[in-house]
Amino acid sequence: MHDEQALRARANELASVHWHHSIRLFPDLLIEGSKSESLLQAEHAAILGPLDLAGREVLDIGSWNGYFAFEAKRAGAARVIASDSLCWHIPAFRGRETFDLGRECLGLDIEAKVIDPTQLPGDLAPVDIVLFLGVFYHMHDPIAVLKAAAALAREGLVIETHQDLLDLPRPGMAFYPRATLNGDESNWWGPNPECMFELLESIGWPQVYYQPHPVVGATRGIYHAFRTAEAAQRAFRGGHAVLDLRTPAGQAAAFARSASSPESTPARVGLLRRWFG
Ligand SMILES: C[S@@+](CC[C@H](N)C(=O)[O-])C[C@H]1O[C@@H](n2cnc3c(N)ncnc32)[C@H](O)[C@@H]1O
Repeated sequence: MHDEQALRARANELASVHWHHSIRLFPDLLIEGSKSESLLQAEHAAILGPLDLAGREVLDIGSWNGYFAFEAKRAGAARVIASDSLCWHIPAFRGRETFDLGRECLGLDIEAKVIDPTQLPGDLAPVDIVLFLGVFYHMHDPIAVLKAAAALAREGLVIETHQDLLDLPRPGMAFYPRATLNGDESNWWGPNPECMFELLESIGWPQVYYQPHPVVGATRGIYHAFRTAEAAQRAFRGGHAVLDLRTPAGQAAAFARSASSPESTPARVGLLRRWFG
């Protein structure tokens, strides 16, 4: 059978499983996932749009059907690794097969690694940019996994997460025991933007840029974090909607409390540095 015919036959067979990403396998063949094509286009603009990926090495943790890995490669990344385990192994999702089909139909040279986020780094070595999208809040111990993901990033770490406690005027993270968020027992945590900023700062990622999700708003957040200003300059193009969380203006727009309060982050970080640093 002709290659394309064989791929279309596989697509036809896999069209009935649950896809998370809508993926246009051929110009005339769109597989519809729970994230619509238009939602993914908005996420693409917010997540990958501000990045210059040309020639970079990228790791996509929790890749599932592979949309963000595919798009990172299309955006010029020299090397892309997609990793996942859970959704690649759940029989009803046939996730690894959907990922393999996508990369073959799109003709993209992307490596695949079966590694659970809780088992990072596995056999992975650091890359330039790590994508940690839609995974943080699914982890029972998200800080440990965030640190493991961050340790795999030489320069940039991009996080997309569910958020909560948006009106709390201090860093906080809501806990959802027993499937209390959307009846989904895989949801554990909902941080607020101040919590994410402080967490990233505390593990050595001080350059943090934030956007509320472009479609659902601040119930989900997108963070572009960099180890240094130089790393940010190399990889980050920014954009009009992106808030720089190191600045009082960025904090005022992103956090529940006023950035001009004496309790604001720069003041506290300054004090800590004076005492310990
Ligand atoms: C919501 S999907 C995100 C997919 C994609 N990164 C995106 O943002 O569109 C969550 C991903 O994390 C993985 N995952 C979710 N919960 C997990 C858990 N408890 N343990 C291991 N992996 C999990 C799944 O396999 C899946 O690929």
